[in-house]
Amino acid sequence: MKKWYAVIGDPITHSLSPFMHDTWFRDHGIDASYVPIRVEPANLEKAFESLKLLGVSGFNITLPHKQSIIPFLDQLDDTALKMNAVNTVVCDGQQYAGFNTDGDGFVRSLLTHPVDRNDQLLVIGAGGAARGIVHALKRAGFHHVTIANRTFRRAEELAEETESAAITMADAESSLADFNIIVQTTSVGLSKDEALPLSLDRLKEGAVVADIIYNPLTTSFLQAAKEKNCTIVNGVGMFVYQGAIAFEKWTGVEPDTEKMIQLITEKLGGTYVNR
Ligand code: ATR
Repeated sequence: MKKWYAVIGDPITHSLSPFMHDTWFRDHGIDASYVPIRVEPANLEKAFESLKLLGVSGFNITLPHKQSIIPFLDQLDDTALKMNAVNTVVCDGQQYAGFNTDGDGFVRSLLTHPVDRNDQLLVIGAGGAARGIVHALKRAGFHHVTIANRTFRRAEELAEETESAAITMADAESSLADFNIIVQTTSVGLSKDEALPLSLDRLKEGAVVADIIYNPLTTSFLQAAKEKNCTIVNGVGMFVYQGAIAFEKWTGVEPDTEKMIQLITEKLGGTYVNR
């Protein structure tokens, strides 16, 4: 029987996940489809019961439900438990298990660029997104992770939890040349002409600079890094790889991520550069 999958969130109209998963189902000859469903926060429990009743095989969860879905699930994997946030649910026919593939998605994307696990890596931000990413970086064996955040206490807490280092934003600005990899995880940059979370004046030429935002494709932060001849990594890779990990959990099939990065880049009005 045809299987079906979904993404629930509010808002949901701009989600690129239906395009991505439907393309992969078609390309891999899997008889399944994927639908976006807008669920208002007050209706989350009823919506989940409805998905179950209608036999959903799995679904993604986006804002604002990543945390509030947790009490309804039967199991959580270690990452989702640590993050206290779920972006993927897998149903084995009986039970509904929650996963969080965001951090690992980021790391898979980063690893397609010229980086080394011994590089000095700076993460800017210490919110939910940064937590997922720092934990995943440590699991992947990045040894030298430093966290800078506007609210220094949050950077310290995340550093303690992950055996990383914490510095203030001012110290990050002045020691920026010491880092080979910089990862921007704050929401600053969602609007194109917003100020940068920190000055990139001292950025080392040739560093790898990543932003988790993918719309706009080139945030002001990445634009400033480009001007310093850095390798820039936008959020499309993270988006595609977090989806690929979910797809693998649902189907056991490893989808074509490189082609998807190209398709999504073009959908967002960008030009794909083959790496
Ligand atoms: P998310 O789940 O997207 O990470 P979050 O948990 O609310 O969202 O975290 C937002 C992050 O962006 C935090 O690191 C926040 O810094 P604070 O801890 O000091 O709030 C950071 N952030 C948001 N707006 C910022 C700004 N204008 N300048 C610098 N950092 C900012």
